[in-house]
Amino acid sequence: MAMARVIAVCNQKGGVGKTTTAVNLGAYLAAAGKKTLLVDFDPQGNASSALGHSPLHTTTSVYHGVLGHAEPKAIIRPSQLYNFHLIPAAPHLAGLLIELVNEKDREHFLRRFLHYVRHDYDYVLIDLPPSLSLLTVNGLVAGDEVLIPVQAEYYSLEGIGQLLETVDLVKRNLHHPLTIAGALLTMYDKREHLSREVGKNIRRHFPYQVFDTEIPRSVALAEAPSFSKPVLLHRPDSNGALAYRRLADEIIAQERTRGAREIVGAKNFGNFNVAI
Ligand SMILES: Nc1ncnc2c1ncn2[C@@H]1O[C@H](COP(=O)(O)OP(=O)(O)O)[C@@H](O)[C@H]1O
Ligand SMILES: [Mg+2]
Repeated sequence: MAMARVIAVCNQKGGVGKTTTAVNLGAYLAAAGKKTLLVDFDPQGNASSALGHSPLHTTTSVYHGVLGHAEPKAIIRPSQLYNFHLIPAAPHLAGLLIELVNEKDREHFLRRFLHYVRHDYDYVLIDLPPSLSLLTVNGLVAGDEVLIPVQAEYYSLEGIGQLLETVDLVKRNLHHPLTIAGALLTMYDKREHLSREVGKNIRRHFPYQVFDTEIPRSVALAEAPSFSKPVLLHRPDSNGALAYRRLADEIIAQERTRGAREIVGAKNFGNFNVAI
């Protein structure tokens, strides 16, 4: 029986490419023959709309699943790609925060729900909101690994320390063996000095691996959601598409070395924030 690798795509900064990564990495994992489920866990529902499931017209969503009000089968939707499924989000997911606050084990709701579905998949990707809220903590606890998109711009390294501290808290206080799949440079322009500097800097200072693949700034990636398609179905020949295909290959290659990677605490993180 399959046992999915569950990867949470997380950065509390907005606009860094989390949703673009979750949607397009998911599409290429599926295209590589890996059965993949994308869980939209952002009340904005951008991943859902990128795959043609408008959050405003979604009646049963991840919210109902997490609260036990709907069977997983009732909320899993197909996409236009074979092997690629979606659990959509809708705006009322924002209310989950308040509903969970007084619950015992409030950090474990998404993980518990995913127990019912992860056996059916090779990969589960969780698209998280731009915050370090209880929703994000639920996403981290549900994940085995976290993938951190980092936009190649001046302020993008700020906040990474806080994110790694949150990961560390989840590991220590909630006794959850979360690992870092890696940091991913997004909107990277190798002709720009600043992009190259940020790239160099993160490769030098990030205490975990940085993916070899850099995601370039790409019009095809930006416009694909307006066609309700992953870039693979919109412009598979574009640089953005090819980059996400390479990223999927890198992720799949990690299957061979998984478990071998040692995780250092966020305390070893040092002065990374001020490094550039
Ligand atoms: N590599 C890229 N090239 C061009 N535009 C991008 C790229 N990645 C993301 N975008 C665009 O930037 C905006 C923010 O990306 P998104 O994936 O929604 O970020 P997040 O989920 O972190 O908020 C979106 O309009 C998206 O289409
Ligand atoms: Mg997003």
